[in-house]
Amino acid sequence: MPRYRLLTPGPVAVPERVRLAMAQTLVHHRAPDFEPVFEEIRANLKRVFQTEQEVLVLASSGTGAMEAAVANTLSPGDLAVVVRGGKFGERWSELCESFGVEALNVDVEYGSAVTPDAVRSAFERAPEARALLVQASETSTGVYHPVEQLAEIAHEAPDRLIIVDGISAIGVHDIPTDAWGLDVVVSGSQKSWLLPPGLAFVTLSERALQAVRTSTNARYYFDLRSEIDVQPENQTAFTPAISLLAGLREALQIMLGDGLAALFARHEALARATRAAMEALGLELLAPDSPSFACTAVRVPDGVDGRALVKHVRDRYDMTLAGGQGSLAGQIFRIGHMGDLDGFDILSAIAAVEMALADLGFPVKLGEGTRAATEIFREFYGERG
Ligand SMILES: Cc1ncc(COP(=O)(O)O)c(C=O)c1O
Repeated sequence: MPRYRLLTPGPVAVPERVRLAMAQTLVHHRAPDFEPVFEEIRANLKRVFQTEQEVLVLASSGTGAMEAAVANTLSPGDLAVVVRGGKFGERWSELCESFGVEALNVDVEYGSAVTPDAVRSAFERAPEARALLVQASETSTGVYHPVEQLAEIAHEAPDRLIIVDGISAIGVHDIPTDAWGLDVVVSGSQKSWLLPPGLAFVTLSERALQAVRTSTNARYYFDLRSEIDVQPENQTAFTPAISLLAGLREALQIMLGDGLAALFARHEALARATRAAMEALGLELLAPDSPSFACTAVRVPDGVDGRALVKHVRDRYDMTLAGGQGSLAGQIFRIGHMGDLDGFDILSAIAAVEMALADLGFPVKLGEGTRAATEIFREFYGERG
């Protein structure tokens, strides 16, 4: 039986320890057995989000937390500046529209990070804008946006919020929520959290909590006021995804096992080695200047069909990579760096790409990519001790 090798930027490979925890006898969420589990999870989520605030847990995919962020902190008739540099930036814009919030879109070329100047000039045109919405890591392009600087710009007006989609960034990049003054940060379980899809997370600053109290939007399941009241007491407003939470407890222990710095360094090394390998093969990166550590997006070379490449890697080499989304379909492929992966998994992915390119007639020198990556991994594993 071939091994199922999952190297997409979500869902990700789930470690055995987490899978076994999810298979254990179900406890009732109102019974005393659940409380210590949720208490430990709450404390560890705060560590990964680097916040003193509560990190609320929702039973939904990541988009549920994005919807909750918009529905709870903005009101119909508000104006918001939205960084639109990929599929998920577009999603912020669509969510605003759905909740009666006017989006002033800052369009960014796919593969580039937004510049602080572009955001400043949007606020100059719309000083009444109540919020800035942005991805920290735009998974569809493999770009990291400079959220620290963007937070400073957003806060040039006192009550303005910065709302960050950290779905593929928290637990990957060092994003200290409180220290950077990020008002809303959301994430989703099928990314760095070593879990299947189904949980979403959202944390709110004091400024954002005030906005939740004054928002006039309609909301019910995603009414964060109900969760804000009960989660600090280790309860949830509705039936939580109990089995996923059992897995999350283990996953957080794994993530924090060697400390946060090691967690970020591992993602960075996997991403750096992948970029070096792709460049050594003569391929072009979509986001060379501000790359996300969640995934690496690579342009499909001329003469190669991008969809056929991803299919070939899967069918012949049992390796599941991701293609491009939306207008990038067929143009790029993406190698994920999150989940139960190490340098040797990345080396396998690079080897599979090399072989597939050769099979499809692209002139690669087999071993050039893996050679470049092993140089980086040798250093990384050496430093790790
Ligand atoms: C940056 C980003 N935002 C939003 C989403 C949407 O999350 P979900 O598919 O869990 O609803 C994803 C998932 O791929 C993502 O990577």
